Amino acid sequence: MEGLVASLGLIELSKVDFLYPDGAQALKGIDFSVKPRERVAVLGPNGAGKSTLFQLFNGLLQPTRGTVSVKGRVVEKSYLKEVRRTIGMVFQDPDDQLFSGTVRQEIAYGLLNLGLAGRRMDEVVCWALEVVGLSGFENKSPFNLSGGEKKRVALASVLAMKPEVLVLDEPTGALDPIGAAKIIALLDRVNRELGITIVFATHDVDSVPLMADTVFVMDKGEIILSGPTGEVFSQKDVLRAHNLRLPRVAHLAELLERDGDYRFPSSPLTIGQAKKMFLDHKTKEKGQK
Ligand SMILES: Nc1ncnc2c1ncn2[C@@H]1O[C@H](COP(=O)(O)OP(=O)(O)OP(=O)(O)O)[C@@H](O)[C@H]1O
Ligand SMILES: [Mg+2]
Repeated sequence: MEGLVASLGLIELSKVDFLYPDGAQALKGIDFSVKPRERVAVLGPNGAGKSTLFQLFNGLLQPTRGTVSVKGRVVEKSYLKEVRRTIGMVFQDPDDQLFSGTVRQEIAYGLLNLGLAGRRMDEVVCWALEVVGLSGFENKSPFNLSGGEKKRVALASVLAMKPEVLVLDEPTGALDPIGAAKIIALLDRVNRELGITIVFATHDVDSVPLMADTVFVMDKGEIILSGPTGEVFSQKDVLRAHNLRLPRVAHLAELLERDGDYRFPSSPLTIGQAKKMFLDHKTKEKGQK
C-alpha cells in the first residue's frame, strides 16, 4: 500500500531534514523512533530543534527531506485526522493552546469533536481535571490562571482525549518545584496505568532519569546521542562537549569518587538510586566487620 513504511515504531523519522522558509536549518539527518508504552526524553539546549521536531510528528510541519511515519504510515494530508487522534500534543507555551472562555469549555472542545455529550462528557472533564489536580477550576477563565495552572489545563484538555501518545514540549518548564514534581508523578501514572506512550522535550537534565527510559540528545538540529537513559548519561565527555551537564546526583558521585576512595557500582542518576547504592555499601561494610 502506498505510504506504508516497514517499521514497528509508533512514531518513526528517517533521515529527516527541516529548513524554515528563511533558510534556517532546524533539523539535520534525524533518525528517531518511539515504541509503544515507552517514555522518551528529547534533551537539548535552547535552539537544538526540539519544538521543531515535535511539530513534524503530527504534520504541523512537513519535512524538507526524509519521512515521518506514525504507526507505520507516512504522515500526509489524508492521514492527519487519525494522526492527531493518536498523538496528543501539549505545546511549550500554553497560550498557543488555550482559546476557550472557561476551563470546562477548553476540555470539552475536543470531546465534542469525538461525539461525547451530556453526563459522559461531564465525567471525562471531571476526570481530566482531577488527574491534573485542578478539580473545581471548571468555570474559571483559562486566561486568568497562573502559568503552571495554564500548563495543567492544556495537559488536561489533551489527556481527556486519551491519545495513544502524549507529546509534551517542556512539561516542567515554568513550574515551581512542587508543580514540576506533580507533573512528573502524573506522567508516570498515565504511562503505567493507562499505557500511554510519553515523549517529552526538556533541557532540565535532572528530570530526565526520573521520567524517561530512552533519551535522544539533540544539539544544533542533530541527534548526537540516543539510547537507554543510563547509557546516554554514561557518555559524559560527549555531553560536556555539547555544553550539557550531568544530573546533579551523577556529578556529586563523580566528585566523591575523584576526591575520596568511595566507588559507586555505577553512576547514580537520581537521589533514589544514590541512596540505595549508599545503603547497600553500608550494609556490606557492616557485614565485613
Ligand atoms: N519560525 C521559525 N523561522 C525560522 N527559524 C526558526 C523558527 N522557529 C525556530 N527557528 C529556529 O530553528 C532552530 C530550532 O528551534 P526550536 O524552537 O525547534 O528549538 P528548541 O530546541 O525547541 O529550543 P528551546 O529549548 O529554546 O525551546 C533555532 O535555531 C530557531 O532559531
Ligand atoms: Mg522549544
